[in-house]
Amino acid sequence: MGLKRTIKVVITGGAGYIGSHVAKVLVRSGHEVIVIDNLSTSQSTNLRYGEFWPLDLAEEDRLYEFLKEREPQVVMHFAAFIVVPESVDHPLKYYYNNVGNTLRLLSAMQKANIKNFVFSSSAAVYGIPEVVPVDEEAPFNPISPYGESKAMVEKILRDMSKAGEIRYVSLRYFNVAGADPEGEIGPAYNQPTHLILRALKTAKGEYPFLEIFGTDYPTPDGTCVRDYIHVMDLAAAHLLAMDYLISGGDSQVFNCGYGRGYSVREVVAVAKVVTGVDFEVKETSRRPGDPPILIAKTDKIRTLLGFRPEFDDLSLIIKHTWEWERRLGKGGKP
Ligand code: UFG
Repeated sequence: MGLKRTIKVVITGGAGYIGSHVAKVLVRSGHEVIVIDNLSTSQSTNLRYGEFWPLDLAEEDRLYEFLKEREPQVVMHFAAFIVVPESVDHPLKYYYNNVGNTLRLLSAMQKANIKNFVFSSSAAVYGIPEVVPVDEEAPFNPISPYGESKAMVEKILRDMSKAGEIRYVSLRYFNVAGADPEGEIGPAYNQPTHLILRALKTAKGEYPFLEIFGTDYPTPDGTCVRDYIHVMDLAAAHLLAMDYLISGGDSQVFNCGYGRGYSVREVVAVAKVVTGVDFEVKETSRRPGDPPILIAKTDKIRTLLGFRPEFDDLSLIIKHTWEWERRLGKGGKP
């Protein structure tokens, strides 16, 4: 696809879980990466690739000065709060950061005349989809302020794009998991809420048992089904999105998943095999806001961006996460 040349990319939230893996893939592909992050929820230990600038998106003037001086061709925007139940308890916190600070970023980009944007969206914009696998044409129907914040930004991007103010790719992530297979970076949350990390930390002895939230869902084994995508494949999708925009592609939205689902019980079974630990599991009541089944329809990203996943294998996803977990000390610090 096109000429191979170095692209200058600014990554917001590049110290976070997904942003840091994307930074690695971009640098390894010969691109120039500048990470901006306020380190409010992330670890500086994941800052291994690219140049780092401590910058808060709330400081729009500084942001503008920075963008004007550095002139990136593309901005990839990862910085956001991501904990769904927290967003229900503290909606303003989520709207202020995920929507308000994105507006500041877009406004600073506009003043600095930077037009290519890659946005971290989420399957949460669909809420509980009527049809699964869900495709990109399904309506927005978020059921949490987190999902709503992502849908709001997508609407803003759509309008800006129609007006010719921006070209963007919005990537709707399904359940992102896994870690860098080379072991340099990985998820580093102290109190993770995500299933695979909870299961592995339980196997490690950091929690006494794993809870399965709900066994009475209308699914084959009664537990929720999710489409788990390896973070390195997701990172590769960002590279494709960037190439697409740089080659003149028009604004698009893509689901990012593999198009196949695993139940909570299936994930737990694989985690036990990979770790070799028969950790304790307790079946408890449903967690509020969990859609029974979330699986991506992936035809669009495969066709239009040529997405070809390399790690489409739940055991491998869990194995890479386990290897990373074992490298971490107690309490999650690398
Ligand atoms: N689960 C458990 N026990 C746990 C943790 C999770 O049973 O200890 C279950 C959940 O109830 C759910 C499934 O495992 O059924 C997956 O839960 P995760 O927390 O790992 O992931 P989610 O599907 O809740 O979250 C994902 C994305 C969010 C997005 C959300 C939209 O990570 O960014 O989907 O529903 F907003």
